[in-house]
Amino acid sequence: MKIKNICCIGAGYVGGPTMAVIALKCPEIKITVVDANKDKINKWNSSNLDDIPVFEPGLKEIISKTRNKNLFFSKDIDKAIEDAEIIFMAVNTPTKEEGEGAGMATDLKYIESCAKDIARVSKGNKIVVEKSTLPVRTAEKIKEILSLSKNNCKFEVISNPEFLAEGTAINDLFKSDRVLIGGEQSQSGKNAVKKLVEIYKRWIPEHKILTVNVWSAELSKLASNAMLAQRISSINSLSALCEATGAEIDEVSSAVGRDHRIGSYFLKVSPGFGGSCFQKDILNLVYLSKFYGLHEVAEYWHQVIKINDYQRLRIVEKIVLFINKNKLSKEVSILGWSFKKDTNDSRESSSIYVAYELLKLDFKISVYDPKVNPERIIEDIKNLNNKRKKLNPNIIETNINICSNLNYIKKPKNIAVIMTEWEEFKNLENLGDKIFLLDFRNFIDKEKTTIRF
Ligand code: UDX
Ligand code: ADP
Repeated sequence: MKIKNICCIGAGYVGGPTMAVIALKCPEIKITVVDANKDKINKWNSSNLDDIPVFEPGLKEIISKTRNKNLFFSKDIDKAIEDAEIIFMAVNTPTKEEGEGAGMATDLKYIESCAKDIARVSKGNKIVVEKSTLPVRTAEKIKEILSLSKNNCKFEVISNPEFLAEGTAINDLFKSDRVLIGGEQSQSGKNAVKKLVEIYKRWIPEHKILTVNVWSAELSKLASNAMLAQRISSINSLSALCEATGAEIDEVSSAVGRDHRIGSYFLKVSPGFGGSCFQKDILNLVYLSKFYGLHEVAEYWHQVIKINDYQRLRIVEKIVLFINKNKLSKEVSILGWSFKKDTNDSRESSSIYVAYELLKLDFKISVYDPKVNPERIIEDIKNLNNKRKKLNPNIIETNINICSNLNYIKKPKNIAVIMTEWEEFKNLENLGDKIFLLDFRNFIDKEKTTIRF
């Protein structure tokens, strides 16, 4: 039987773009994306496509082709679950803030509440797909919750982790390196996997679709993110050594990356990696390793996070040293708030951590980002302060000035710090020599940059 109805719970950075692409590629399947946040659903339905909640190159074009044809954004979660044969769970899975495993383990409360909704509402058999990154063996927990369903429905839980990177999500979804589908080895498990394979086969060559067991799929996602992040921490740690020795990190990175066994991707020096996945997934890996008594393994991966924190603090130190050396006032313009270019997502962005440290040192900061909205920027600092409590809440709004364009930074003696590699920051060499440009992304041609990290 062919799949006719899909529901996706979670209309965020994963659910939105992923379902848009499936809708585009499978016009005969009706896809309903639901979210507990009603305001978000309103935004996805906005007639102005610039107002949809996720900024992602190429996304609005797909939404304009599919929305209200076979792609629907709805507030009626129960109905969407009831009608669907396949339900994707694409809800957020942040790091736990309290209770056992706080600061390390993944908070499964959103996943659990999703599973409870599915158990409560379902009247027929369904395939439940884990799309969010989850700790290994979460499928077991989900099955347990689903088994509480009163209508005698059968559920197959399969893991299909998402590998898209924000900023390039649409391209990643069109041309995935691989699609990973983990299912149980039983006949019904295999049938469920086959149904998902049929969907992806519409545009992904079959040899790129890997079918594995559920636990391997769950762990592969954590492992992929951990290994990508590990490369960044490796190069960032070497940047400190380059500065001490006079070597050039870009030259080292390029030389190392030429070895085809290593490859050149994810070797770009940066102010530390951000985004909703890397830190959370590594902390999760650390927690899991400890749970299984593998303390050396836990310590090994934890180091990747420690270097990331160290890189952020090093940047703050460099800014402070620079200001002291040049006898400048404690004012800095931060260019870029998103955790990378081409997204409006700022989760775990290094800009938040650097700005927070500077505010602690009584700096006044101005921030400009082409896509992140001003309320989000203030919210990010407030959220961090709720955890760290090192800032007087009153100074947050008074000491941050959010700018709507780059004009503000064009003041003589201003220090502008490039934190995100947005294209529009590439032309800043024309600012003149009265402005100090600190390029912590090392992405401007070094000849043209006033000051380099
Ligand atoms: C990541 C994974 O790449 C993706 O496969 C997974 O599904 C989700 O997590 P994402 O976090 O969206 O994707 O973006 P990514 O391109 O991986 O960048 C993460 C962070 O690493 C960014 O802050 C980026 O600036 C930084 N980075 C990346 C570097 O500092 N140096 C690099 O060389 C590459
Ligand atoms: P991701 O990057 O993983 O997509 P987001 O935070 O962008 O994370 O999106 C996750 C979405 O899931 C949010 O919009 C949130 O409101 C939604 N969500 C979380 N829990 C539930 C739930 N139980 N039911 C419906 N939606 C949920």
